[in-house]
Amino acid sequence: METILSALWSEHRSIAAVLHGMLYLVREKCERGKPIETRVLRAMLYYLDVFPERVHHPKEEQFLFKAVRARTSEANPLLDELAREHAEGKEALRRIDQALLRYEEGGEAEFAQFAQALEDFAGGYRDHMRKEEEVVMGAARRALSKDDWSTLQREWALHGDPIAEEAAREGYERLINRIVELAPPPIGLGCGTELALAPKRRPRQPKTN
Ligand SMILES: [Fe+2]
Ligand SMILES: [Fe+2]
Repeated sequence: METILSALWSEHRSIAAVLHGMLYLVREKCERGKPIETRVLRAMLYYLDVFPERVHHPKEEQFLFKAVRARTSEANPLLDELAREHAEGKEALRRIDQALLRYEEGGEAEFAQFAQALEDFAGGYRDHMRKEEEVVMGAARRALSKDDWSTLQREWALHGDPIAEEAAREGYERLINRIVELAPPPIGLGCGTELALAPKRRPRQPKTN
């Protein structure tokens, strides 16, 4: 059975793939002068809004962070910092969106500023995920008992509305297909490898009572 840690870890890989795609397109323009189709950047930003902002981060706080806080205080300062970063996520996305808009409207003169804003944004995002994987998941592995894991796993498997989740998952898949259609190789079509960006179906446990 897929555990909450492996699910969150694989969602990080999906988010990292989108960040990598955005940086790749911007660096190709910086280094080789390749033009950018900004629609693909917009689709990627939209993905970061609808999936990590609305689903992934709340799920981390509701399950993983809460379980770690209940068993140890060793990660509390970092958990506070990560929760602050979650709360600021919408605003960080809005700033990137504004920088992209300035580039679209203002042309080449605005590109360097957009590229730098994206480098900073992606660097911060990667750092956020690294702290979660190395420190928070590490603390969870050390502090949670077998029973804690069973409870956490059961609560995680039972939360939410399966029909709404399935509809949302199909929405993410459509969005990812759109990104792959729009992005040039090696990020999008023609790369010969499949981008695993959409969250996987989560196995559900039957309710027992
Ligand atoms: Fe997070
Ligand atoms: Fe995360």
